[in-house]
Amino acid sequence: MNELLASIEQKVRPLIGQGKVANYIPALANVNPNQFAIAVYSNDGQVFQAGQASTNFSIQSISKVFSLALAIKHNGEEMWQRVGREPSGNPFNSLAQLEYEAGVPRNPFINAGALVISDMNQSRFASPHYAMREFIRRLADNPNIRTDKVVAASEYEFRARNASMAYLMKAFGNFDNDVEAVLHNYFDSCAVSMNCIDLAKAFSFLANKGYSKHNNEQVLTPKETAHVNSLLATSGLYDEAGSFAYHVGLPGKSGVGGGIIAIVPNRFSVCVWSPELNKSGNSLAGIAALEALSESIGWSVFG
Ligand code: DON
Repeated sequence: MNELLASIEQKVRPLIGQGKVANYIPALANVNPNQFAIAVYSNDGQVFQAGQASTNFSIQSISKVFSLALAIKHNGEEMWQRVGREPSGNPFNSLAQLEYEAGVPRNPFINAGALVISDMNQSRFASPHYAMREFIRRLADNPNIRTDKVVAASEYEFRARNASMAYLMKAFGNFDNDVEAVLHNYFDSCAVSMNCIDLAKAFSFLANKGYSKHNNEQVLTPKETAHVNSLLATSGLYDEAGSFAYHVGLPGKSGVGGGIIAIVPNRFSVCVWSPELNKSGNSLAGIAALEALSESIGWSVFG
């Protein structure tokens, strides 16, 4: 596996230069684009890696999977009245659909949906940021994981679009807490810094019927795990979810920091990272690497 990952790194590194580092969050624009990493974590606890797999990066929207898992643990089925389970076919930060669908976001992974999930977690926890951070640290088995406060502050300063979504949902009655407080917690989660090994390990429970072996915790039930994986497969890559399913064939979630996690149910969890993004805001070299990996091992869940 390590040899395969090294050969995939060789294959996709030349793509660096063809994408664009996210710059709508100014603190992310300073990242060195010439970086690549991949880590694979097997259900029996082995780590395989290539590239800068111990280099931290901003997890951004990958954090939405942690917040969704936390919300599912603490809310019943009624939570799905506030957020849908359908692909949006729109960019992750689109406002248009939210207006004509009366403030109910299509799914928990577009920004509007993640903001509703953050609102639910805000209602549930005395200190939502602390709850999220402890949850992530436990799942990754790494007590040193932190929020990059510079990135979080930059996101808050340039919050206009996310704030618009949250206030629009509040106008429709789909937002319970103070918008600015929820935005702070949402950005603190997006601005968490982790590396590929941390992330592959943290999401191993999604490859293992909800069970996190390294900390002996049933994080979600097998059924809840299948639900999260189905949402990842249909909405994890926004308006590129269809072609990701077609080419990679795995549940996955991207972030504008250039990270992507992917789940091979019952076998592996994977994280890939390269900061340059394509037009949909997903890592360009990262998608190419996952495609090569999935194809060479025949990992597609679609057969
Ligand atoms: O709210 C935002 O726009 C960012 N904190 C997260 C967006 C993101 O990562 C979209 N993913 N590709």
